[in-house]
Amino acid sequence: MNKPLRIALTKGRLEKDAIALMERVGLDCQSLRDKGRRLILPLPDIGAEVVLAKAADVITYVESGVCDMGIVGKDTILENASSLYELLDLGFGRCRFALAVKKGDDFFAGYGAKTIATKYPRITRRYFEKQSMDVSVVKIEGSVELAPLLGLADGIVDIVETGVTLRENGLEVSRWICDISARLAVNIASLKLRKEEIESLVARLEQGLDQEK
Ligand code: PRP
Repeated sequence: MNKPLRIALTKGRLEKDAIALMERVGLDCQSLRDKGRRLILPLPDIGAEVVLAKAADVITYVESGVCDMGIVGKDTILENASSLYELLDLGFGRCRFALAVKKGDDFFAGYGAKTIATKYPRITRRYFEKQSMDVSVVKIEGSVELAPLLGLADGIVDIVETGVTLRENGLEVSRWICDISARLAVNIASLKLRKEEIESLVARLEQGLDQEK
């Protein structure tokens, strides 16, 4: 018998909407609702398993093939992915990448080299290369908003959802960079080897997205 189709799901922000989508298309997600501290949960209707993982690890599991599919933010795909198929825009987990600075600062003023703090160095470098601007990038693990406040950086590149974190810390958007939402990513070999199973699940999820419109 085939091993179960494994779907890596990003823990936290995307979890609730992903479960809502799967339930909307008739999948029994009770195991996910009662998960406790378990990290691998069965989806009995389709003989699949959901693997709960941190966003960057979803990419690692999908690209390595230990998971066939993954639900993960476009931000993490842009930052970490190199070889997977992105099959669906799931429409939830919407936010935007932005360059933000201390309120009133003009990031682009003057000639000195600027420093950017971010959890997303690859996206940041790519953005400033496109602007033909040479910047230093400092990798920060979280609460990136601290870096300009503490004087470590001139600005941050980060995701903005409601804008509350920026506002409450005296920062503002200088430039919008791109839109982000949750995506369904698929391992390249799995899409060939388990084509039918994957395509039927993708079609089902697509219907769920249409219903929501
Ligand atoms: C994210 C992001 C911002 C905040 C934006 O951080 O890095 O800090 O959310 O959301 P808002 O626009 O709705 O305020 P997260 O909460 O994931 O925590 P972290 O900074 O510790 O990674």
